[in-house]
Amino acid sequence: MAAVDWQGDVDAAGASWVARAGVAADSDALRAVEVDALGKNGAITLLLRQVGQLPGGDRRAFGQAVAQAKAEVEQAIAARRAAIAADLLAAELADPTFDETIPPEVALQGAPRRMGHLHPLCRVQEEVEAVFSSMGFAVLDYPEVESEFNNFEALNIPAWHPARETQDTFWLRSGHVLRTHTSNGQVRALHTFKPPFRAVFAGKVFRYEATDASHDHTFHQLEGLLVDRVVSIGHLLDSMRTLLAAVFGREVPVRLRPGYFPFVEPGFELDIACQLCGGAGCPACKQSGWLELLPCGLVHPQVLRAGGLDPAEWQGWAFGLGLSRLAMMRYAISDVRLLLGGDLRFVQQFGA
Ligand code: PHE
Repeated sequence: MAAVDWQGDVDAAGASWVARAGVAADSDALRAVEVDALGKNGAITLLLRQVGQLPGGDRRAFGQAVAQAKAEVEQAIAARRAAIAADLLAAELADPTFDETIPPEVALQGAPRRMGHLHPLCRVQEEVEAVFSSMGFAVLDYPEVESEFNNFEALNIPAWHPARETQDTFWLRSGHVLRTHTSNGQVRALHTFKPPFRAVFAGKVFRYEATDASHDHTFHQLEGLLVDRVVSIGHLLDSMRTLLAAVFGREVPVRLRPGYFPFVEPGFELDIACQLCGGAGCPACKQSGWLELLPCGLVHPQVLRAGGLDPAEWQGWAFGLGLSRLAMMRYAISDVRLLLGGDLRFVQQFGA
């Protein structure tokens, strides 16, 4: 049998792949070398397949030589891979903008974007505004710092009036007040719009008072005002029921009581069954099973007059929804102070 220098061929093949691995510029090039040498149809793999075709005497030595070459190529590839990684790391470390305190998953993908979400109060506010908007109401916004006139006098609450006692007030040195209710917007709307008109306006209100589970010094109301030539209590109550059904998605038991507010006549308190205890009594409803949620009534002639309208020609109805309480009932929040407490663990429960 003719002497075949397969030993030399195998060695040369191995050496050439070792050399090519050694000069691979980056991990992609190295991967290509690996596939060409050791892949399913790689050069070294093909040599290995030839082992079986050789005459018995040569088979063992040839097999060993190829296995040896394969091992050397594998080693060379592993060494080059480590070197490429080391070069990469060295380059990163040499980069003056490199910050080794950033975790690798963040460095590779960028800092995860933290999405905010609406506060439960905003969500309820937007829902209620959408309901009234669909009924043709304008959605307005009025100042939190208000004149004594707009907050009290124009609403038929002169300085001597006992009703002032029920709304303990934060006074500013200028003589302005932090509005004690959103009813200041009634005065402003009456001076701005030509009747007939209808509008809602929500926002923060402030009272100088001791806090408990159902009272905070700062809370939210949503006021509604409708002015037309003829209005009725029936229309007012139906609008209130429409609002509650939309927010709760079902009929909620309500009760209507006479209520006194100097700027409405007649005036009512519309209470809803406490949604936290189901009417059994709890701290949120002061153990009564009912929650004062919707004071309302027909606009007092004095208020219309203060707004420049003739009560013989124009009538109106108004309501002052307790938005904070509505949010509490809607989301089963047991303490009003959680709403503006600034505790992210509370707020983040309302994401998505
Ligand atoms: N402004 C009143 C309050 O805060 C509520 C109210 C508004 C009552 C509108 C009647 C009509 O107590």
